[in-house]
Amino acid sequence: MDAIAEKYNAVVTAKVSFTSDLFILKVKPDKPLAEFVSGQYVLLGLSSNLARRPGSEPEFKESKPDRMVLRAYSIASSGHEPDLLEFYISVVSNGALTPRLAQLHPGDRLMVGDKIRGFFTLDTVPREHSTVVLAATGTGLAPYISMMRRHSAHPYPFRFVILHGAPRSWELGYLDELRMQARHLPRVTYIPSVTRMKEDPWWTGDTGRITKWFQDPELAKRLELEWDPNKTSVFLCGNPAMIHEVENTLKPLGYTIHGTQQPGSLHTEEYW
Ligand SMILES: Cc1cc2nc3c(=O)[nH]c(=O)nc-3n(C[C@H](O)[C@H](O)[C@H](O)COP(=O)(O)OP(=O)(O)OC[C@H]3O[C@@H](n4cnc5c(N)ncnc54)[C@H](O)[C@@H]3O)c2cc1C
Ligand SMILES: NC(=O)c1ccc[n+]([C@@H]2O[C@H](COP(=O)([O-])OP(=O)(O)OC[C@H]3O[C@@H](n4cnc5c(N)ncnc54)[C@H](OP(=O)(O)O)[C@@H]3O)[C@@H](O)[C@H]2O)c1
Repeated sequence: MDAIAEKYNAVVTAKVSFTSDLFILKVKPDKPLAEFVSGQYVLLGLSSNLARRPGSEPEFKESKPDRMVLRAYSIASSGHEPDLLEFYISVVSNGALTPRLAQLHPGDRLMVGDKIRGFFTLDTVPREHSTVVLAATGTGLAPYISMMRRHSAHPYPFRFVILHGAPRSWELGYLDELRMQARHLPRVTYIPSVTRMKEDPWWTGDTGRITKWFQDPELAKRLELEWDPNKTSVFLCGNPAMIHEVENTLKPLGYTIHGTQQPGSLHTEEYW
């Protein structure tokens, strides 16, 4: 018996795949997790003795045997069902954990860290801010799913604009759920955007990288967005290059990064 696997404390209850490399994992911890705030994350872990998915690239850094491979994942569920956690995960082909996570099926066990982590939450947004922009690439959408589910049960006092970029439309996870929320919840705008249009000629929605909304004043006007740090809070999650580009656009306009010591209107969560 794998001594590492004995530390597993949760079971997979469902897996919803968008592609072989992009999926939702629903997980039931043996003991309900402590309360969390939408936007926070936990560590997920699997034994390094578990085989990686066949066909994966060699590991970026080879994992030693008999180790728990742990990585951070934003919680996509809202916390209304504390004994069921949801994660939105993309496979990094040369990664240590994701080619192992991709092997999981309902009934399989894994480790969920019991410490709730992170400060990428809406509770520090000043009430006088009229608008909160939630911008994500790829699976960087996960914390916003939790926020929007919370918003539909207990509305936050803000207008939300969700900007989500993915290569192709079938990689826009949660598309139907967010479209439905934008239709039925007051003051929610959702702009899903596809960046590899040639590979998805059937997509009739918005195209191009989400950075354009911050860089082109005419586009911002279309969404009635005002890049004023006293009125609009901005959340950025996912690809670090996207985050740095938007940071460089907003900092000259007076935006500062939010930290535990120093409040600011720019909140960032870099995934790697
Ligand atoms: C706070 C936080 C929350 C996160 N939440 C999520 C989430 O909800 N869903 C999710 O899919 N991921 C999330 N991540 C990323 C996750 O923690 C892992 O880094 C990712 O799943 C890759 O793990 P790995 O072990 O397979 O690859 P690693 O062995 O860690 O990395 C292999 C190589 O890939 C690079 N890399 C790591 N992640 C990515 C990526 N996403 N795209 C491209 N290259 C990458 C690394 O820099 C390294 O060069 C989060 C990260 C942080 C810090
Ligand atoms: N093959 C698959 O089915 C699949 C699915 C999901 C993930 N993955 C793999 O998983 C890893 C990470 O996936 P992910 O979900 O985090 O990201 P991703 O799906 O690879 O990319 C998400 C989006 O981020 C955009 N982007 C990249 N750099 C940007 C920047 N500087 N500014 C603005 N937008 C930017 C991409 O646009 P561009 O298209 O213009 O680069 C893409 O639309 C990658 O290794 C990816 O290859 C594969």
